[in-house]
Amino acid sequence: MKTPSSSATNLNKKNLEHMVTMNDFSKQEIDKMLELMTLLKNARKDNAIPELFKNKTVGMIFEAGSTRTRVSFETAATLLGGHAIFLSKKDIHLGAKETVEDTARVLSRMCDIIVARTNSPDTIEGLIREATVPVINGLDTVYHPTQMLADIFTIQEHLPDGKELADLTLAFMGDATDVCRSLLLICTKYGINFKQIGPKKYHLEDKWLRLADINCQESGATYEITEDIEKVSECEVIYGDSFYWTTQLEEKAERLAAFMPEYVITNELMKKAAPGAILLHCLPANDKEEVTREALEGEYSVAFDQSENRLTAQMAILIYFTHKFIKEPTIEQIKFHENKINDLLKKL
Ligand code: CP
Repeated sequence: MKTPSSSATNLNKKNLEHMVTMNDFSKQEIDKMLELMTLLKNARKDNAIPELFKNKTVGMIFEAGSTRTRVSFETAATLLGGHAIFLSKKDIHLGAKETVEDTARVLSRMCDIIVARTNSPDTIEGLIREATVPVINGLDTVYHPTQMLADIFTIQEHLPDGKELADLTLAFMGDATDVCRSLLLICTKYGINFKQIGPKKYHLEDKWLRLADINCQESGATYEITEDIEKVSECEVIYGDSFYWTTQLEEKAERLAAFMPEYVITNELMKKAAPGAILLHCLPANDKEEVTREALEGEYSVAFDQSENRLTAQMAILIYFTHKFIKEPTIEQIKFHENKINDLLKKL
């Protein structure tokens, strides 16, 4: 049974929501997050970001390495007037001397939101089981929802002339990674046609396609899983990701042999894409493998804009998931407690 928290930052936690996959949210809800991103990006341009996370803390559990997700959440918390605590595997007892559930209970009493990058979706599930604050999946090997928010926002910012999101086709070049799965689902939710282009051995499993079928029925989007590289001619968005993850290093040679050179993103490949095409990459990039340096820094690439939009997304996430729990004290309340404490201090 969940024990209600006694923490002052942790009152009224009815309607607690977590972010495991963007597929759990309706298009309308995601649209609101994207709207929030637009407002926050504009506020950042004016160096006038409202302190909507003031006196709040995000507890960040990271079992695996990260540049973008870590830095964007830490910076987002600072810009919004709050604070982030980075907790790597070696900093806390998680999974060694303390259960995931107890870690969630304790962090919930001290932090206002938890972000976790985990080596398994079970860890996210364990945190959610006992957390009384929102838990945000910062990549759990299955889904990468915070990346998706930045990706859709970036595509929206770079739409080809006269086109809307629902007019587009996105090609994911490579393996059925967490990013590939997440893109399949968010694209089909938004009416964006999706293609995974790569060797058959690395194609998405049917269970993900069945989830996409539900989205397609609603949005009218289609998907295609193909080995045919010529299909890039139908795509306005070409998306790159590593051909192997850090836990698959023993497969690296086999994977590179399967993907290279046919599925490498080059400027020549981008020229074959549909008019107005853009290159996205979740980064980090291996510029001698899935994408060339020339393409990554070239005229088609918006990969570094996309990376910066991770910060915009994380600001929106921190606010979206915590705003309903903000309980501003009155001046009278602050004065009351200040007087009580000062009275005691005078007696010390
Ligand atoms: N794209 C992404 O999640 O980057 P990091 O692994 O650096 O966080």
